[in-house]
Amino acid sequence: MSEQLSAELNARVEHVAGLLKQAAADYSDGIVFANSLGAEDMVLTDLISRYAPGIGIFVLDTGRLPEETLKLLADAKVQYPQVGFKVYYPEAADVEAFVADHGINAFYESQDLRKGCCFVRKIKPLKRALADQKAWITGMRREQSVTRDEIAFSEWDQGNGLQKLNPLADWSEKDIWAYIRALDVPYNALHDQHYPSIGCAPCTRAISMGEDVRSGRWWWENADNRECGLHPATPLKFK
Ligand code: ADX
Ligand code: SF4
Repeated sequence: MSEQLSAELNARVEHVAGLLKQAAADYSDGIVFANSLGAEDMVLTDLISRYAPGIGIFVLDTGRLPEETLKLLADAKVQYPQVGFKVYYPEAADVEAFVADHGINAFYESQDLRKGCCFVRKIKPLKRALADQKAWITGMRREQSVTRDEIAFSEWDQGNGLQKLNPLADWSEKDIWAYIRALDVPYNALHDQHYPSIGCAPCTRAISMGEDVRSGRWWWENADNRECGLHPATPLKFK
């Protein structure tokens, strides 16, 4: 129970703390948190450091991340020494071949090429990060987009063959920021420049008042299908 938080937010925190502790016990033989260093993921980093520091944390550095995100990674390592941040990179040969065939900024040319770039820079490294794991944790929330409005706290990830946990599924954006402000959690400087959702630099831009929070991601594509492949079709649910 934290005095800096409202009763409602304290209840949410206790719920997530319970989920994290249970998950750490249930999947003691392999559980990791995929950390994009976005606002939600910084909240989860803070919660994991307090309630389940044994859960491993990894970051997929695509090679195209904004400087602000890399700065935050360095700061987070200092602020949370009790948790580790393992960084995965794409295979150099994959990136070299993709760039040789399609050019350095091919993602703007077609959705297939954009997904190809995400495959090389994110999906293949994700497969390595999840190899031999039994469960993974994400910072996804239902409110974030039409493609996420049915995610469960715990669901079977068919594509990757392990359990997927989304402990913040029912948190609002307001909850996220109330937690960050009250507990002084470090966050990406780009959030103060109208970037609510941050991915790779060339595929993320600032949004205007009233726009959807994910409208700055792959903004040239149709919103119904704007996922990179880390989180494909709705997985099977049983909780
Ligand atoms: S994305 O699929 O559009 O890029 P988003 O940025 O909303 O996803 O993040 C959703 C969740 O995916 C994050 O909370 C995090 O768990 C995971 N994720 C996204 N990008 C990364 C990354 N670069 N490294 C590790 N995890 C990531
Ligand atoms: Fe490539 Fe953009 Fe996907 Fe990053 S978000 S991996 S730069 S297409």
